[in-house]
Amino acid sequence: MTRTSVRFRCQDCGYETTKWLGKCPDCGSWGGLDAPSSASGAGATARPVPLADVDTTGMPRRPTLLPELDRVLAGGLVPGSVTLIGGEPGVGKSTLLLQALGAMAAAGARCLLVCAEESPAQVRMRADRLGVVTPDLLLVAETSLPAIVAHVADVAPDILAVDSIQTVHDPDSPGAPGSVSQVRDAAQRLVRLAKEQNVSTVLVGHVTKDGALAGPRVLEHIVDTVLSFDGDRHHALRMLRAAKHRFGATDELGLMEMTEAGLLPLADPSALFLGDRKPGASGSIVAPVMEGARPLCVEVQSLVNMTTALVPRRVAQAVDTNRLAMLIAVLQRRGQIEMSGRDVYVSVAGGVRVAEPGADLAILLALASAEYDAPIPATTVALGEVGLGGEIRQVAQTPRRLAEALRLGFQRAIVPPSTPDIRGMNLVRVVDVHDALAAARLIGNDEPAPARGPHLVSATPDPFA
Ligand code: TYD
Ligand code: MG
Repeated sequence: MTRTSVRFRCQDCGYETTKWLGKCPDCGSWGGLDAPSSASGAGATARPVPLADVDTTGMPRRPTLLPELDRVLAGGLVPGSVTLIGGEPGVGKSTLLLQALGAMAAAGARCLLVCAEESPAQVRMRADRLGVVTPDLLLVAETSLPAIVAHVADVAPDILAVDSIQTVHDPDSPGAPGSVSQVRDAAQRLVRLAKEQNVSTVLVGHVTKDGALAGPRVLEHIVDTVLSFDGDRHHALRMLRAAKHRFGATDELGLMEMTEAGLLPLADPSALFLGDRKPGASGSIVAPVMEGARPLCVEVQSLVNMTTALVPRRVAQAVDTNRLAMLIAVLQRRGQIEMSGRDVYVSVAGGVRVAEPGADLAILLALASAEYDAPIPATTVALGEVGLGGEIRQVAQTPRRLAEALRLGFQRAIVPPSTPDIRGMNLVRVVDVHDALAAARLIGNDEPAPARGPHLVSATPDPFA
């Protein structure tokens, strides 16, 4: 044992270890090892240790064996952690949970599913359909918090799942079932239970469109991980992301498809996102973006109209509004394209939120293409960050993004000047906005950009001119 190791001591029998444990291996008492023993007198609870000596082996992960869920969880569930899955009713939370529990149970984990909403028979029917009926998956229909705590003590599961936290209530606490105080108290009790017994806990919580309702919002700071599960009830695509994750990054996007056989990982997301693309439309260009560690090709679309309002509308869907305002300003000032007096709409088809600067150039070109009502060649993609000076800058992971574009059949890419060659892709390196507009064939190579889109010159006179 090195001098600098943190030691945990069992408060019952004095057993010491360097690793945090939920249960004392010596006397078997629960939850007594979480106080680092202090050798340096009153007040000090842990001695500072060199970062390199910190033991991480106490934080193994149990893969859920659903690849997209594991991607978002950065590997799986951490023992003793509490994960909240929030989403609108009907999006597929119970399905996701049951598939994950079924897979983990089949791999030998002891799983306890507390059904606080559906009857065991309903769950059994769904499990049959999903093919996840295994003896290691235990089910109990229960809404009373003390009873749930007792079941956990009884069963000693590796994984506890509660569907949903909103329907759990404590008869000894004030407030009606489902009220904010009841939901918060129940979650707090379950978090304590998870830490005391080292049980990985998954809670399901319903959210409405505005994120309201007693639930996920008030629970965010109580739990370790918050996953949000969205999708359109009328479409099969489901998106899973981490809004908070104490054990990993929050930038990974899980993509699944709701099918007859439950949720399946989306085999080729880019192909799906580009599937309904209309070639030859103005205001459209494809951007190879990164969603966490995965490159995705998405279609950026824009529409520009003369405004009839005093203040033009600037609507961004799945793109940051401030980023859009900045790109409009750059296009106006550095690209000399008049954007005042225009309603501007930008969206990313498919609904994947693009929160990285790599899509800047595509957004800028989509805006110019919409303003000119002139299409950009359909086999061209654009990649790069746009600076306030109108310069096009390099972004991370360029080769991987371009490889994804190449795989999908794109042959030409408008890219920043320092982009290295990639076999099979015709790279058009551009220094600034003017170069980029020319590369997108929106203006001639040595002509200045016309201030006004050609279609707008002949249209109604601009009241702001
Ligand atoms: P569910 O998991 O119950 O949603 P939540 O718990 O978020 O309220 O599932 C919602 C929908 O998913 C339901 O309308 C039926 C559909 N579904 C499928 O399409 N395939 C399946 O295999 C399952 C289990 C459900
Ligand atoms: Mg449900």
